[in-house]
Amino acid sequence: MKVVLGVSGGIAAYKACELLRLFTESGHEVRVVPTREVLRFVGEPTWAALSGNPVTADVWDDVHEVPHVRIGQRADLVVVAPATANTLAKAAHGLADDLLTNTLLTARCPVVFAPAMHTEMWQHPATRANVATLRERGAVVIDPAVGRLTGADTGPGRLPDPAEIFQVCLRVLRGRPRDLAGHKIVISAGGTREAIDPVRFIGNRSSGLQGYALARTAVARGAEVTLVAANVSLPDPAGAAVVRVGSTAELREAVLAASEKADAVVMAAAVADFRPASRHESKIKKTDGEPDPIHLTKNPDILAELGRLRREAGAGPRVIVGFAAETDDVLANGQAKLARKGCDLLVVNQVGEGLAFGTPDNAATVLVAGGEPVEVPRGPKDDVADAVWDLVAPRLS
Ligand code: CTP
Repeated sequence: MKVVLGVSGGIAAYKACELLRLFTESGHEVRVVPTREVLRFVGEPTWAALSGNPVTADVWDDVHEVPHVRIGQRADLVVVAPATANTLAKAAHGLADDLLTNTLLTARCPVVFAPAMHTEMWQHPATRANVATLRERGAVVIDPAVGRLTGADTGPGRLPDPAEIFQVCLRVLRGRPRDLAGHKIVISAGGTREAIDPVRFIGNRSSGLQGYALARTAVARGAEVTLVAANVSLPDPAGAAVVRVGSTAELREAVLAASEKADAVVMAAAVADFRPASRHESKIKKTDGEPDPIHLTKNPDILAELGRLRREAGAGPRVIVGFAAETDDVLANGQAKLARKGCDLLVVNQVGEGLAFGTPDNAATVLVAGGEPVEVPRGPKDDVADAVWDLVAPRLS
């Protein structure tokens, strides 16, 4: 595929070198189109050597090849990373004063922007309006990550991990529809932990891979994603707002708060059904006799609560999706759970045989309230996630 990597003038440009390598090493032909400003951060020889293609920021070079039109016309994907506030503004208003902005006007392929800037610039009403305009026109604008910025300050504005931007681009290149654009989606991922004492907990084997795949694919399909992650040690998916939690109580609070304004909620987290009735304030010591039993108490069922709130108050997310890992009587148990929890879709996994926990692949049966079950064949968790969105998207429109 022919990829145009637009790079605009931020310090995060050095991370675009890594993104460029990911594209070239996976067989894509990349033409780098920098702005004049970014060449002060990372010079032309770096972009030319890494891409194996000539590099210019100017419309006046190689005029006989009409580059200001050709590069955009030939592209299968244009990704601008980092995209500065200035580049976003020019793109939103159709200005064309350098090769990159000309390319953006002539491209008819999907366009992905990965903004990086200081928090104040990202939150400024002018930038918010420009981002909204670009999204309305169908561009994918990946929300910046939260973290350390240039200098001592922290906040939203960091360029996401290049590997994660690359994943979004691959999904966009695969031609998935942008059918979640304009929708707010909450996804829970990972597994909750319930403290026994300051050093021990009751937990489960969920890695968070399926929840993160749901977040990554939803971003590529245009959604605004809040990812509530319980004890997950994976890199943040580009473009998702990540809220970190530990226990079921924390997960419940974060999910319910984010769900108030959400269009869909997907509970992919493995939630502990029980917690110790009391938490020891200090570490439990070995004693000579029999150990004291740990008494358990029930945790609230968050999925069922979401369903109940919607039923009783008539408010809340339009689509509620649950997950269930089952070992026996998979379909019968799943159907009963779908009804009990009051959700619209239940993604049922059979556990075992190299599937589910910690593995890259998954297979599922999606049970549909009032409809026929849908089989999702074994495949990468991103594909399973897309199959879930294929069922969610029509229910949102
Ligand atoms: N779930 C939840 N709150 C809980 C337990 C589970 O929100 N306290 C959600 C999970 O995130 C998942 C779905 O409910 O989406 C099904 O989880 P599962 O553990 O399979 O359901 P249980 O009701 O606990 O059923 P089981 O008796 O099979 O454990």
